[in-house]
Amino acid sequence: MRFDRRTLPSLLVAVCCGAISPRALAEDAPTATTPAIIPLPASMEMDAGRFHPGKTLHVAITGKLADRRAIATLANEVLRDAWHRPVATASAKGRVDLRLAVAPDAAANPESYSLRIARDGIVIRAPTSTGLFYGLQTLRQIATPGSDASAGLPALHIADQPRFHYRGLMLDSARHMQPIAAIKQQLDLMARYKFNTFHWHLTDDQGWRIEIKRFPKLASISSMRKETVIGNISNGATARDGIPYGGYYTQAQAREIVAYARARHITVIPEIDMPGHMVAALAAYPELACTPGPFEVYTTWGISDDVLCPSPQTFAFIEGVLDEVMAIFPSHYIHVGGDEAPTTRWKQSALAQDIIRREGLKDEHALQGWFLRRVEGFVRAHGRTIIGWDEILEGGPSPTATVMSWRGMQGGIEAARLGHDVVMSPTSHAYLDYCQSKAKTEPPCIGSFLPLRKVYDFEPVPDELTADQAAHILGGQGNLWTEYLKTPQDVQYMLFPRSFALAEVLWSPKQSRDWNGFLLRLPAQLAELDRLHVNYRRLDAP
Ligand code: ACM
Repeated sequence: MRFDRRTLPSLLVAVCCGAISPRALAEDAPTATTPAIIPLPASMEMDAGRFHPGKTLHVAITGKLADRRAIATLANEVLRDAWHRPVATASAKGRVDLRLAVAPDAAANPESYSLRIARDGIVIRAPTSTGLFYGLQTLRQIATPGSDASAGLPALHIADQPRFHYRGLMLDSARHMQPIAAIKQQLDLMARYKFNTFHWHLTDDQGWRIEIKRFPKLASISSMRKETVIGNISNGATARDGIPYGGYYTQAQAREIVAYARARHITVIPEIDMPGHMVAALAAYPELACTPGPFEVYTTWGISDDVLCPSPQTFAFIEGVLDEVMAIFPSHYIHVGGDEAPTTRWKQSALAQDIIRREGLKDEHALQGWFLRRVEGFVRAHGRTIIGWDEILEGGPSPTATVMSWRGMQGGIEAARLGHDVVMSPTSHAYLDYCQSKAKTEPPCIGSFLPLRKVYDFEPVPDELTADQAAHILGGQGNLWTEYLKTPQDVQYMLFPRSFALAEVLWSPKQSRDWNGFLLRLPAQLAELDRLHVNYRRLDAP
């Protein structure tokens, strides 16, 4: 007897209304409740029977696995959290509670896995250790921490793989920085919900947060602002708190984050935003600007006219910075920003105007294109690829640049039509710093409104793209700017539960999107956040 999640509701009706005797739902029948898994697996079928864990939980791992020990540790953690029973390696002929089997399969999605729970044990199979890792994350949501061991688990079969290859979250550590421990906790949580990319926004007008040994004043000067605006500037706030704020991550700490993320199958993409959002760097190295300065690390939010001048010193600076950044971060992508760079200073700069004439450029936007193509050449010579915010389209980006569409979907549509790869991250659906409610009690947030439901309705592939163009949509990303998020708890409040909705958008098949089903699965995940002491926004009363 097999039941899938579509037949279960009718099964419950059948039981309640007498068509099936309750006894038929005893030990040998499928459980009445499907596990509350987020993101929803691509396919899940309930089977008859239950698995009952042994007094000691025996684990067997088969196949070639570079990170066998990490997978074994995660398996032990999941099983021990579930049933608080000892975990041991299975002997060749003995009982196996959990078997993890990796079998390379070039044709399979490398992040895919299958998970079967049967009377005689649990088996997770995958073509890679990433697949096993995700299978274990799913198992954690079935064998939930503190489960009743005597009840065991329902028999079922899951075959799962992500809809999108790029499933990202961006964290702004420039406006407010987060302790390393908090970033690690976020990476842990991202892994549970199958995000695979952490975009780390490390530099901005209000602070430079990554140690660059060749430019030590980035740490000693650019990382500190003398004070911070109090309250919400969209309500006209201008007063400052008079309290110095700053700090930076050492290269060793950044490497620690890269390694921690890698162990959770997450890539860290660093962002060095240029040529705008660079005032903090100009405060330390004013010779990189088109005007003499002096400059001060910004103490309020917004956009500055002061940007990098496209001078030889600037390119030497950028190349020196990116050399060290690429040595720390092994990611395929290096994010070079490109957003919100006013052309005011370049219009007034003889140096900038000379380049426009010399290179036969149309205007300052084309000069920004020239600037970023030059940076791209440097990045590409190091075997990496640039990704930038959608403004990079205005300057004529090189064909290999990937575009992160943030000012809506249009930039991404245009970019895909031009043959660029695209990550969709529109303010309309993916700006997790936007307010979750219009209630006066909502903590400080950027003015626009992005409730949970709207995130759940995010569709990264616009209808107007042809299939070939749509293939350029690598996935999507939620962005968390931290002007108004001072503490890790503030960040978590904005992330949860909206990042759960995003996780489902980016992982689960489009046709399985089901808001009511998501709402039914949500409480189990919120309970898990409670158990982990993670902050989140409570759901509104229905
Ligand atoms: C952005 O939100 N300025 C990319």
